[in-house]
Amino acid sequence: MSLEVLISEADVARRTKELAAEISASIPVSDQPIMLLGILKGSVHFLSDLSRALWALDRECQLEFMQVSSWHGEMASSGIVQIKKDLDSSIEDRDVVIVEDILDTGRTLSHLKELLAVRRPRSLQICTLLSKPEARIVEVEAEMLGFEIPDKFVVGYGLDYDERYRNLPYIAVYHQD
Ligand code: IMP
Ligand code: MG
Repeated sequence: MSLEVLISEADVARRTKELAAEISASIPVSDQPIMLLGILKGSVHFLSDLSRALWALDRECQLEFMQVSSWHGEMASSGIVQIKKDLDSSIEDRDVVIVEDILDTGRTLSHLKELLAVRRPRSLQICTLLSKPEARIVEVEAEMLGFEIPDKFVVGYGLDYDERYRNLPYIAVYHQD
């Protein structure tokens, strides 16, 4: 097994600040904090850094979490997505940003976006750190995107291989060897 640096810690940090600025610019200032909805577990570091970068821009955030699991089985088109942990709060009339580590087939985020839209948020956007455009099966638009990467398995900065490497501070390609 070996890890090959794909995106350095410094580049992740720089891009995260830019994404915070994009989020801030897209949401008018109101009396309600921006609701950052992190998808567990992969988004934790990204959500944490993003939320503090928003504070530096004078924007307050509410942190919420959901956990989902998707089965990438043979029935490709069905793409079942199971909610393992739902939100604790109402999102009605709120500015919501779904924060995800990576957009791969697109199943998870397209399902989540449909499910959450029904709850009538004021705005609903997706901010994903990474995207693998070649792996897309379901079309889904991410309003904010950190980096497009090749269709390779990556770990670090929250992303795991069998629950390992989440605390690697940069993004690396995982080589089985
Ligand atoms: P999608 O529904 O296929 O877009 O699934 C996205 C989810 O698959 C992400 O939230 C990750 O948990 C996982 N995933 C996809 N690609 C990778 C990868 O390269 N490394 C680690 N996890 C990945
Ligand atoms: Mg994930």
